[in-house]
Amino acid sequence: MALEIGVLVSGRGSNLEAILESIRDGRLSAAHVSLVISSQEGVRAVDIARRFGVDTAVFDAGSLGLSRKEYDRLLIDSLNAHGISASSGLVVLAGFDRILSPEFVSAFPGRLINIHPALLPSFKGLHAQRQALEYGVKVSGCTVHFVVPEVDAGPIIAQQAVEVREGDDEESLSARILEEEHKLLPKAIELLASGRLRLEGRRVLVN
Ligand code: GRF
Repeated sequence: MALEIGVLVSGRGSNLEAILESIRDGRLSAAHVSLVISSQEGVRAVDIARRFGVDTAVFDAGSLGLSRKEYDRLLIDSLNAHGISASSGLVVLAGFDRILSPEFVSAFPGRLINIHPALLPSFKGLHAQRQALEYGVKVSGCTVHFVVPEVDAGPIIAQQAVEVREGDDEESLSARILEEEHKLLPKAIELLASGRLRLEGRRVLVN
């Protein structure tokens, strides 16, 4: 049976697109995106979801006027209604622009992952590529990790290094990292979907 996935987005949606294309092309098997939730109206990510025939929900945080707890409850209820719960399914944060409450995180134990455009634990938070350039590292990259209440701090599932070149600016480095994100995220989902990941303390082991 396919793993039911809910993807949370807020903008461009290129990682969502990479997941949907991987499923369509059979590179990512045993997984199915059953819901895409966007925190923003009128974004490309929602168009992509519709183009692939995936159910969408737009919960515009600004206009709903909910507390974080109420907003996250709405997310949990929608995901649950699409078969994604504490005991089944997977939630993927792919460019979601909100920090999730501890209640949300504990509603999906071991079933909530994020992609971050740096080699964690370096350069957590926003503008990770800019942080990497400003720090002067020679190598950056991307990380897929389980989500814990502390931002960008959960157990690491997979990482891919990307060279930082002397001529790089934020845009060129981000573009090269993004290309790798599009490969890494579907690969990490495949590992999860095929039941090959095991958590030992902070370490994620691949069988
Ligand atoms: C990606 O760089 C991802 O690593 C970060 O947000 C960006 C989302 O891009 N968390 P997209 O919406 O998937 O194109």
